[in-house]
Amino acid sequence: MKHFLKETDFKLHEVAGVLALARELKAKRGRHTPPVLAGQTWAMIFSKSSTRTRVSFEVGIHELGGNPLFLNRNDIQLGRGESIEDTARVLSRFVHGIIIRTFDHQDVERMAAAGTVPIINALTDFLHPCQIYADAFTLAERWAPRGGDLLASLKGRKIAFLGDTACNMAYSWVLGANLFGMKISLGGPEAFRPTREFDAFLAREGFAGGYQFTTDPKEAVREADVVYTDVWVSMGKEEETKERIRTMSPYQVTADLFATARTDAYFLHCLPAHPGEEVTQAVLDNPRSVIFDQAENRLHVQKAIMATLAQVPRA
Ligand code: CP
Ligand code: NVA
Repeated sequence: MKHFLKETDFKLHEVAGVLALARELKAKRGRHTPPVLAGQTWAMIFSKSSTRTRVSFEVGIHELGGNPLFLNRNDIQLGRGESIEDTARVLSRFVHGIIIRTFDHQDVERMAAAGTVPIINALTDFLHPCQIYADAFTLAERWAPRGGDLLASLKGRKIAFLGDTACNMAYSWVLGANLFGMKISLGGPEAFRPTREFDAFLAREGFAGGYQFTTDPKEAVREADVVYTDVWVSMGKEEETKERIRTMSPYQVTADLFATARTDAYFLHCLPAHPGEEVTQAVLDNPRSVIFDQAENRLHVQKAIMATLAQVPRA
């Protein structure tokens, strides 16, 4: 059974296939979408808020001919203590795939171990792989226009990630950058540098030492093709708000900082953004800010991911 819990769950040739299918689905949207999920129901278990992920998956499943079933964690017995394993086993008897957004990454791994249908990670405290694939597609459609090789266009490019360099987006982009052959530099406070556990995970994935970390935001951004940031206070970290804003304020992406990247660099943010904290409104509005294309591309890329998983024969 094939799952998508982390970027590396697809081999490079599969990543190329997902990106190419996303391009095809985007171009054909509204005219001809293959009903690869016809007759299927995909459950969506969410323990955290969501705008983009929830809507793009619900619309995407519908457009592929399937039926999305949204389940708030607290509306099902999981919220009252039924185990992840039993939830996975029961849902596997009813549905054809499960999309899950939660806190602990291990919960997603446990669901995949117990379930017998494809599981998709729709964000944990550790990784957000659907976002990284959509971001990579957003860049590749610019760097490889008119049918060029999407995956190859990423190779050798540098991404700089600023702010909370120990959050799910930073970790996921480190893994994604290594998989896609990109360079990544993290600029953030010492207190928020990646943990030893993350370094060990990266080594197990075959990418030991696969990032640069600096406390100097300008150094992180130098020669970057992409400048990326995310909120300073991720979901579940609200009680640390004051301290995080104080520590991370030198890493705000301002027009001046963005100007120290390459002159053709793009600005990316997974959204939701907090203008005036991690990024200024001027940068969000910059012509090289592609934040709403990233959001739209969640739909096309996740359709491609689901279509790919649905076609892998069941073990
Ligand atoms: N970027 C992202 O995952 O947004 P949502 O939290 O709105 O789903
Ligand atoms: N790091 C953010 C990403 C939101 C899409 C969070 O986890 O809240």
